[in-house]
Amino acid sequence: MKKEVTHYDWVSITLHWLSAVVIIGLFAVGLWMVDLNYYSSWYTVAPHWHKSIGLSLMAATLFRLLWKTIKNQPEIIGSGLEKISAKSAHAVIYILLFGLFISGYLISTSDGRGIEVFNWLTVPSMGELFLDQSDIAGEIHEYLAYTLIGLALLHAVAAFKHHFIHKDNTLKKMLGVNEK
Ligand code: HEM
Ligand code: HEM
Repeated sequence: MKKEVTHYDWVSITLHWLSAVVIIGLFAVGLWMVDLNYYSSWYTVAPHWHKSIGLSLMAATLFRLLWKTIKNQPEIIGSGLEKISAKSAHAVIYILLFGLFISGYLISTSDGRGIEVFNWLTVPSMGELFLDQSDIAGEIHEYLAYTLIGLALLHAVAAFKHHFIHKDNTLKKMLGVNEK
């Protein structure tokens, strides 16, 4: 008989919390860096880090999805409706993330230059694929970022509701501390 999985494994837990911190960081840095003055010493440094960390997050997210398919995941706790909404919210979070990676790539590469990831490898440009690519992708990137942060906030509220109101294992299984 297959053993019931009661909590997330440490790889999933590490990737979840690391991704959460990185996403909030990218959001804050993104908002700050677009208003930087040309004479600021951060003018080129901040976007370089934003793009390098963003693309590293993309690699980590691809690995996370692969890991999710090979590793048994614990059941989501709650009614049928709650399970469906939690699963849909998780799927939408992943979709928004890929929307951000693609739009971020399109903003950065419209001038024909590739993206330098930590001065270590260059992701090549495909050039300008459509008119006003940088502006359109920039606008989409901004909307997607706000939507993702809004949804992540709701998601965190739901996790706290499970923990403090229903007093179930939802949050504990993502912290790796359930005793079962
Ligand atoms: C492949 C990954 C990513 C790349 C290449 C990338 C690239 C960029 C670039 C080039 C800008 C400047 C846009 C402009 O000058 O108008 C930007 C802005 C921004 N990015 Fe990203 N980004 C990535 C991932 C992310 C992620 C995961 C988030 C998370 C929420 C994020 C949040 C933001 C925000 C909030 C802004 C400011 C938008 C604005 O106010 O115009 N980015 N990004
Ligand atoms: C930017 C921030 C965050 C993002 C993008 C995010 C994303 C996700 C995703 C995609 C999953 C599904 C995992 C899977 O693939 O199966 C998940 C699960 C989970 N997250 Fe987050 N999360 C964030 C922040 C938080 C915070 C702040 C909390 C708690 C306060 C939290 C608590 C949980 C819990 C408890 C689960 C497990 C849900 C279950 O299996 O029932 N997350 N998160």
